[in-house]
Amino acid sequence: MGVLGDSDLEALLATLHAKSDEQVEAMRSWRGEKSEEATFSPEERAARLKAFVSDKLVALDRDKAEFCYQLCRATGARQLVEVGTSYGVSTLYLAAAVRDNIAGSGGSGRVIATEYEPEKAKAARANFSRAGLDALIELREGDLRETLKVIGDPVDFMLVDIWIDMARPALELVAPHLREGAIVICDNTQAYREAYADYFAFIGDPANGFRTMTLPFNGGLELSVRCSR
Ligand SMILES: C[S@@+](CC[C@H](N)C(=O)[O-])C[C@H]1O[C@@H](n2cnc3c(N)ncnc32)[C@H](O)[C@@H]1O
Repeated sequence: MGVLGDSDLEALLATLHAKSDEQVEAMRSWRGEKSEEATFSPEERAARLKAFVSDKLVALDRDKAEFCYQLCRATGARQLVEVGTSYGVSTLYLAAAVRDNIAGSGGSGRVIATEYEPEKAKAARANFSRAGLDALIELREGDLRETLKVIGDPVDFMLVDIWIDMARPALELVAPHLREGAIVICDNTQAYREAYADYFAFIGDPANGFRTMTLPFNGGLELSVRCSR
């Protein structure tokens, strides 16, 4: 049994991770085969990549997702926001943490999840109900710049696993709702350091009250903590 302590859920996740890993390989080949890519502008390349990944899982790596589960258990997180849900792999880890925190000490909680591809959202909902975790997940469909305008309860934990240009706008929307000591995790911050420049500018601005470090997971995983002083 893995860290989730739930063999049925872990079996479902193993299938989803395997599918995602296969697609990552296909994406590598797709990129390698595109010798004509050099003739496209950066905007055209970005649009082509966006179209290619529009039906791919691009799931958070298993060890990073397990780490998020552990962080949420350690801190008793109940109000979570995830930006970038896709087929719901990381969401299932987060919702399992909420379920287990509630089972341990009562109360209520939820994961606000976000996805703008309708087919991915549909697949995510099917996975949530297969895992029996749908009651703990509020999937907001549409562009997160609209769907995260209202958050509600103070947020304990945020996962940023989204196309990089959306990372800062998402954090700007959620930041006013992060409680003191809240954790923000962001994927691939070492591999795409430059592309994340505006995200780091926001995190590094003392007025926004974060302490941050890049953890040595594959590609880097940013762990930022809301500390007002
Ligand atoms: C890296 S994937 C998320 C993977 C997911 N966390 C997992 O572990 O399975 C990023 C997702 O964000 C979605 N996305 C990108 N921009 C978005 C936006 N502006 N609003 C909502 N969803 C968006 C994409 O469609 C994609 O499915």
